[in-house]
Amino acid sequence: MNFQSVRGMRDQVPEAARRWSHVETGFKQVLASFSYEEIRLPLLESTALFSRSVGENTDIVQKEMYSLRDRDGESITLRPEGTAGCVRAGLQQGLLFNQVQRFWYAGPMFRYERPQKGRYRQFEQIGAEAFGMAGADLDAELLQLCADAFQRLGVADHLTLELNTLGTAASRQAYRDALVAYLEPRQAQLDEDSQRRLARNPLRILDSKDEGTQDLLAEAPGLEDFLDDESKAHFDDLLTLLEQLDIGYRVNTRLVRGLDYYTHTVFEWVTDALGAQGTVCAGGRYDGLVEQLGGRPSPAAGFALGVDRLVLLHEVVFPDWQSPAVDAYCVVLGPAQRAWAMALCQRLRLDLPALKLRLHNGGGKLKNQLRRADQSGAVCALLIGEDEVNDNRVTLKWLLSAQSQERLDYETLRERLRGINR
Ligand code: HAM
Repeated sequence: MNFQSVRGMRDQVPEAARRWSHVETGFKQVLASFSYEEIRLPLLESTALFSRSVGENTDIVQKEMYSLRDRDGESITLRPEGTAGCVRAGLQQGLLFNQVQRFWYAGPMFRYERPQKGRYRQFEQIGAEAFGMAGADLDAELLQLCADAFQRLGVADHLTLELNTLGTAASRQAYRDALVAYLEPRQAQLDEDSQRRLARNPLRILDSKDEGTQDLLAEAPGLEDFLDDESKAHFDDLLTLLEQLDIGYRVNTRLVRGLDYYTHTVFEWVTDALGAQGTVCAGGRYDGLVEQLGGRPSPAAGFALGVDRLVLLHEVVFPDWQSPAVDAYCVVLGPAQRAWAMALCQRLRLDLPALKLRLHNGGGKLKNQLRRADQSGAVCALLIGEDEVNDNRVTLKWLLSAQSQERLDYETLRERLRGINR
């Protein structure tokens, strides 16, 4: 029997996982520097949570959820996104009422989509959700945080920020009605997907890639004509702040997002370096969701980074990026030196916690062990044979240069290894 991973679910072998780790760590450092706090959430939630929040008529709830019956008959779902669970947890743990909170979470999400490059059935998000702040300064903070992380990871030049405002729930509903009134008599001219969406989720038609549909939309009423003054003021305030912060953006009045909970600001960070799946990070404000899930009203906003896509972008921008698994490789010449070598390595690991030190196991000829050392990517080898043990010294051999090898006492060896910096 030859087992394969389930379609749309990927392994990350160590070489790839190192890049993942680099990207994730970089992003999490920025979250911490903005004082966002980690919240750890379950992968399974009750199915109703998602139909309530993401929306009964969205693609996610209609056709993408991994839902199953628990043994007691309850319908549960592998989370397709993190916002709903974060709000649920905030309410359940009493963290939202009358409080200001800044959370982040990371982990896998599950959507039964057609897999392709950048789109998987199990994918990773790092999400941030902030509660209790109604002003546009929070929206700007979230965008500044993303911009900062993309800058630090070296991919900022490849990402563009697209922004829109959906206004209040009431203005959105009024616009929805107007759009349906305009499109219904022209239904036959819409592409197939959009025809289906007309009844259930008409705003998503604005997203359609179909040219005929886009032509039809050119004459359609615009969302901006339905915004109330407060919504306009919020959006203008945000745009002014972004200009003051020198964060570039493009207003895209067709940007509506595929989840129902948004109000006011919505945004996407997009790249053209990845083909069709170019949205690397997305989010917005969702002032009504806390109340909708049974809490007392609390304004909120957040985003989720698609880590798979950010890693793909990092690969495009830095194809030769490498992070070695091993800094120093310890060669042991005979079985009698094994315990001595293990004890030495352990002492070094305690003294130099950042050093990646690999000890050769299984014996073998010096030449073969040194070949393994080379293959490991280490910059140096520590050679331990009978003489070294008797002498209580270690031979240090640099692998990348023709420097001569030296026999060193423990303290000198430790200082040489401390100097490895990569
Ligand atoms: P979303 O737009 O559904 O929003 O997903 C956010 C990001 O997750 C996308 O922009 C994309 O990078 C990544 N993503 C989504 N689906 C897939 C997939 N099948 N394969 C790979 N990557 C994917 C949300 O999930 C909201 N919860 C964001 C949010 C947080 N809004 C407010 N707070």
